[in-house]
Amino acid sequence: MAITSRMRHVIESQQFSRTLLEELFARADEIKREPHRFMGRLAGLVMAALFYEPSTRTRLSFEAAMLRLGGQTMGTDNAREFSSAAKGETLEDTIRIVSGYADVIVLRHSEEGAAKRAAAVSDVPIINAGDGPGQHPTQALLDLFTIRAELAKIDGVRVAMVGDLANGRTVRSLAYLLSKFKDIKLWFVAPPQVSMRDDLKAHLDEHHVSYTETQDLDAVLPEVDVVYMTRIQKERFTDPAVYEAIKGIYRIDKNAMARIRKYGVLMHPLPRVDEISPEVDDDPRSAYFRQARNGLHIRMALLDRLLS
Ligand code: CP
Repeated sequence: MAITSRMRHVIESQQFSRTLLEELFARADEIKREPHRFMGRLAGLVMAALFYEPSTRTRLSFEAAMLRLGGQTMGTDNAREFSSAAKGETLEDTIRIVSGYADVIVLRHSEEGAAKRAAAVSDVPIINAGDGPGQHPTQALLDLFTIRAELAKIDGVRVAMVGDLANGRTVRSLAYLLSKFKDIKLWFVAPPQVSMRDDLKAHLDEHHVSYTETQDLDAVLPEVDVVYMTRIQKERFTDPAVYEAIKGIYRIDKNAMARIRKYGVLMHPLPRVDEISPEVDDDPRSAYFRQARNGLHIRMALLDRLLS
């Protein structure tokens, strides 16, 4: 099986060096510009997608990426119900089995640390497609690729991360990636019930990344280059009353958009519920659909890097 030795598994954002990120982004640019050059590069290889949690973008963009590179795909949605997990099989046993059938496994799971557990027993690369409230490193790759595309720079960017930061694996992974760049300034905008976790803040302190915690979105909007909205994730709350108390707390509508810089960028990993009004979808600063499309190219670049 064709596997690179330098990047065997993709588990968390911390494992990416700035050089590797720049290589991946350059490759994703090439793929976007000249997709025909990459047709057939992964012919004969098989990707397994094991999704224990729902997904539209991650699952389908990984499948499209593998198919466009000439590889094949197999997998299971709702693996908790439709795989032998329903009969009590452990994640580790499932991975041992599937790694005998596939050349790479894309895994989404509800438990933080699941991808790391899978990597410990897998014979083939594991790609973390989201592990509960832990990390979603390939989302962070496409997010950073989008920032670079929209602003023509990453060093020096000022980013507001808004919403469910405690449970938000996309914001965690993106903050870890941004910490590799220079002069980054972050604002964490969240109610206290879902504020950014201490482990991430300790990492930013260690890497001298400036951040401000606030609940006041209106005050932050004119200060930043990127507004990164996230959904309050109902499925992560054990106490429904806490969810009810904070749902819908932040919303970007035309009035809020008027406070964002002329060359600012509005992003969201999607799916959205009500945190971005559809009335701003046509604003040129609304980048979330372009962002989702970038997922295809960055995942093609990643699969190519791992498997060719
Ligand atoms: N952004 C993201 O991970 O979307 P899906 O849950 O649809 O994969």
